[in-house]
Amino acid sequence: MALTDYEKYIRTEELLALQKPPATLTCHDELQFQIVHQAAELWMKLVEHELRFACELLAQEQVPRVLTTLGRVARIQGVLLHQLDLLDTMSPADYMTIRTGLGRGSGQESPGFKTMLRLPGEVVWPAFATYLEGTGRSLREIYEHPHDHHQLFQLCEGLVEYDQQLQMWRYRHLMMVYRTIGTGTPSLKGKPSDLLAHGMKQRFFPKLWDVRDEVFAAWTATMQQAGKDHGYHG
Ligand code: HEM
Repeated sequence: MALTDYEKYIRTEELLALQKPPATLTCHDELQFQIVHQAAELWMKLVEHELRFACELLAQEQVPRVLTTLGRVARIQGVLLHQLDLLDTMSPADYMTIRTGLGRGSGQESPGFKTMLRLPGEVVWPAFATYLEGTGRSLREIYEHPHDHHQLFQLCEGLVEYDQQLQMWRYRHLMMVYRTIGTGTPSLKGKPSDLLAHGMKQRFFPKLWDVRDEVFAAWTATMQQAGKDHGYHG
């Protein structure tokens, strides 16, 4: 039978052939496991597409559209985060069965995730820093007077959002790992708690976190000079 236009455009034949056929599944839950991972790779592909676009727009100084693009990226990251809920319905025993067919494969090898870790430092921050330089404003000025630099502040916060969402994903994933293999089981690359918790300390746009410390430190110094103690930076 001829393919419908929908099937041709979405390429459903190829797409739906990418999962293990039912007869070869190691257990019932394996289809969900495979689909959640495959869908994640697609969403991460879209994150890359949008982030690179945001950088092109920034180079053209089209800031309002950069903001809507970063907003879209945050929503995709929300989808990535929430789809992990599905795997809470899988038992530890079923995961062990799935692992027998997974070899030494690890999420750490995910090309999409590696790109999401790489892009902020290699592509996004350089594009942002060039734009910021052109405005003549410093991060310190923007964060001290956010409402005088509203759009620039929104732009900075759009980047912070990416950082935060990525780390929320990592935290959520670690909880899922604990739920599935326990808190102490060593995995392929060591103890997940050490390995994954280490990643959670990463900051993708460190200057946007440092500037918060700076404005708070400056505020505290001013308060101390005025004889007021608000309990920060003792
Ligand atoms: C119950 C399901 C899952 C378990 C038990 C699990 C387990 C683990 C473990 C133990 C690690 C640490 C590295 C290693 O030993 O391989 C890891 C890393 C990772 N996994 Fe999963 N995983 C699950 C589902 C997923 C899903 C659905 C994704 C979606 C893409 C994913 C992506 C990743 C990524 C990207 C890393 C590296 C994280 C980082 O560097 O911060 N995992 N996973």
